[in-house]
Amino acid sequence: MEVFELINNLQSEITAASPENAEQLELFRIRFLGSKNVIKPIFSEMKNVPNDRKKEFGQLLNALKENAENKFKLIQETFEVKADGESSDIDVTAPGFPYLQGSRHPISLAMERIIQIFTKIGFVIAEDREIEDDWHNFTALNTPDDHPARDMQDTFYLQNSTEMLLRTHTSSVQTRVMTSQKPPIRIIAPGRVYRNETISARSHCQFHQIEGLYIDKKVSFADMRQTLLYFAREMYGPDTKIRMRPSYFPFTEPSAEVDVYWGLKDETDYRITKGTGWLEVLGCGMVDPAVLSNCGIDPDEYTGFAFGMGIERQAMLLHRISDIRLFFENDVRFLKQFSGAL
Ligand code: PHE
Repeated sequence: MEVFELINNLQSEITAASPENAEQLELFRIRFLGSKNVIKPIFSEMKNVPNDRKKEFGQLLNALKENAENKFKLIQETFEVKADGESSDIDVTAPGFPYLQGSRHPISLAMERIIQIFTKIGFVIAEDREIEDDWHNFTALNTPDDHPARDMQDTFYLQNSTEMLLRTHTSSVQTRVMTSQKPPIRIIAPGRVYRNETISARSHCQFHQIEGLYIDKKVSFADMRQTLLYFAREMYGPDTKIRMRPSYFPFTEPSAEVDVYWGLKDETDYRITKGTGWLEVLGCGMVDPAVLSNCGIDPDEYTGFAFGMGIERQAMLLHRISDIRLFFENDVRFLKQFSGAL
């Protein structure tokens, strides 16, 4: 409607106006706020506006009027200060309001630090979708149909679907990369993952992982161990000790869990390490030959290792945070403690 266009044009005119002296300001006042101003007659157009746009019309018109008033006041004030700096009410020497700086989220900081550690030794970042299909998240990774992880209890499937799901681990990115790139492959895949878990101090239905995958000719378990030792020392200090415990993942064989030695200096250490002094930090293993074949890589020619770790867990260890829920509540009092680098 024409009248809306008119409001729009006046709005732009007000925004663009920049009276530079008292005379120009007076012209502005007469045009927009004087007794014969241009806004007033538009109000009587209300009767011609269709019912369903009357509300919008009223709001736009009021906003227009308000803008004109505010602009006028603002410019008038700056002129007053200029003309009569000392006697003005505005004390230009008063201290300003402190400007609150934002800070990076502790998960982003931990993620960035882990990424830096691995990119230094030649890993490149790979990212992929959070809504995955069953094949990339489970089947290609050797996870049988009746594996408990596939249960509705553990996995969020999309509504009315048994095919599409929220990825339960970043290992799905391994599948994506292996089916689209040729070895040598050396990637890390950071990202968000989802599991149907009861939310508590120790677990959440969403969290973050970083996945690593290295595939080339003659990659060995020793290569994996040395890579992960390097990581632990960069992350937790040059004297950090690690140990590997045999474990099971459907997509790696053999599989292991890596613990770092945390020590038993105080009561918290006893609690978080369950009295052993050792803390589990990641899962890893040699990529199962069946997984390589599933993804079109010849297991007779290539071998590789993979690992995956939870970021929240690393951040909780680094900062001694005892409740995972704090990461998702976005309470500024919590977040602002992490403004510095990790
Ligand atoms: N995907 C596994 C998990 O979520 C971790 C893992 C990744 C284990 C790669 C071995 C190799 O627990």
